[in-house]
Amino acid sequence: MTDFAALAEDIAREAGDMLLAKRPSNPEVLETKSSPTDVVTALDRAAEELIRARIGQARPGDRILGEEGGEAPGTSSVRWIVDPIDGTVNFLYGLPEWAVSIAVEVDGQVVAGAVNVVPRGELFTASLGRGAVLKKDGLAVERLRCNDGVPLDRALVATGFGYSAARRAVQAEVVAAVLPRVRDIRRGGSCAIDLCSVAAGRVDAYYERGVNHWDFAAAGLVATEAGARIGGLHGAPPGTEFALCAAPGLFEELHDLLAPLDPARDA
Ligand code: IPD
Ligand code: CA
Ligand code: CA
Repeated sequence: MTDFAALAEDIAREAGDMLLAKRPSNPEVLETKSSPTDVVTALDRAAEELIRARIGQARPGDRILGEEGGEAPGTSSVRWIVDPIDGTVNFLYGLPEWAVSIAVEVDGQVVAGAVNVVPRGELFTASLGRGAVLKKDGLAVERLRCNDGVPLDRALVATGFGYSAARRAVQAEVVAAVLPRVRDIRRGGSCAIDLCSVAAGRVDAYYERGVNHWDFAAAGLVATEAGARIGGLHGAPPGTEFALCAAPGLFEELHDLLAPLDPARDA
C-alpha cells in the first residue's frame, strides 16, 4: 500500500528544491487572477506541473486538484490537492513565508499532508490518526502539539485577507473588532503556514474567509493531528466561506466572537 504521507513529502521536497534553485532575484508576474494583486508566476505553474508529473508516475489513475491547473480526472478513489506555492506574494517579494502544499484524500477524506516551508528548511507532515511532525534539516523529528488552555485574551491569532478590495473592507472591520480582544494579530501571508503554526504552538489560532481547499487541505490535517480543531462557522466544515482553527476551548471562544460579526458577509 502506498505511504501517502511519505510520497507527498518526497514530491513536496522535490518541488521545493526546484523552486529554490530556480527562483530569480525578482520573479516576474506572469498574469493576475481574481484581482490585480492576485498573481501567478512562471514558477507556480512549473512547480504544479512537476508535482502533477510525479503523482502521475507514482500513482497513475489518481485524480488531482491543483490551484493553477484545476481538476484532472482519474479512475481511483484517491485525489491529490496541490497548492504549488502558498504565499506567492511572499515568494515574489523574497519573504521567507511560502510553502509547497500537497494533501491526499481518499473517498473525500484527507488522509495525508505535507507542507514544505522551503526557505526555512521546515517540512510539516501528517497522516490521519498517526499524528503530525515537523522535520527540520539537522534536527530531530519533532512531534507536534498545539497550545492548549489559552484564553481568548491571551491568544496570538493569525489571519489573512483576500485579494478583492470589497472583501478586504469587511475583513478590516472584523479584525478591528478582534484585535482589542486578543493578545495580538499576525498576518504571515500563507494559510498553510499559519495552520502549521497553530500545530507547532507558534500561534494559538487562525481564521480567514475565502481560503480554498488547496490552501488548507494538507495543513488542516497537520493542525488537527496536533490536537487542534478546524471548522467553519456554526458547525460547518472549513471552506471558502470561513475557516477557523485552534485548540478546543479557544476554538469555541473565538468562534463566538467572530460569528456575530458575520465575517462571511459581502460588503
Ligand atoms: C493565499 C495565501 C494567503 C491567504 C490568501 C491565499 P496564494 O494563497 O494563503 O495567506 O490570505 O487567502 O489565497 O495565493 O499565495 O496561493
Ligand atoms: Ca494558496
Ligand atoms: Ca498558490
